[in-house]
Amino acid sequence: MRRMQKIQLTIDGCEVSVRRGTTLLEAADAVGIDVPRLCHLPGRDPRAVCRLCVVAIEGERALVSACSTRAEQGMVVDASGPRLRARRRVVMELVLAEHGEHGGGPCEVELLAEELGVEQTRFAPQPRVPSPGGSEYALVESEACIRCDRCVRACERGVITRKGRGPGAHLAFDEGRALSASSCIACGDCLVVCPAGGLRLRGLFPRA
Ligand code: SF4
Ligand code: SF4
Ligand code: FES
Repeated sequence: MRRMQKIQLTIDGCEVSVRRGTTLLEAADAVGIDVPRLCHLPGRDPRAVCRLCVVAIEGERALVSACSTRAEQGMVVDASGPRLRARRRVVMELVLAEHGEHGGGPCEVELLAEELGVEQTRFAPQPRVPSPGGSEYALVESEACIRCDRCVRACERGVITRKGRGPGAHLAFDEGRALSASSCIACGDCLVVCPAGGLRLRGLFPRA
């Protein structure tokens, strides 16, 4: 049987041994080092759009996203230093500028902002494309959406896609229908992963 190849690296002074191909975020998780994240969805390809998981690799000038950077033998990684904490607070302000009001209580975005010590944003609110409309079970609030694409990756039927670019980027169901008129089977997977209240449960949610 082929042995799994392991590599060793150091994160925040802690020696970590992981199999080749592991991301820095997974390596940090393996030893209990908490790296903030919003767009990360375990088991799915990284989008690396929120930039909250930035870490510093010794010898490299630019910060990298831990969720999309593979660990390499001998890497020395700073995952929690003051430079990173300052950068994450600015990044969180940018996220909050995208994140409008929504119902349903505090969401993952707001809880993480609180954890990072960010109470408000200096940046102007981002204009949004109007919501495509929800369903009997799901509320869609584009004002709250931070465009993390977790829902796009969670929907195994491919109902949800991302349309447009930059400030005009928005979600579409079956290329432009309301969720209620789409091929959605109401499995709820997209609602469970949304960190922002952009897609939320309207009431009791029957499994398909
Ligand atoms: S409820 Fe399920 S099928 Fe419907 S859009 Fe969400 S993930 Fe896709
Ligand atoms: S609706 Fe939620 S999960 Fe989907 S892109 Fe927006 S914030 Fe992310
Ligand atoms: S969690 Fe890594 S960029 Fe969002």
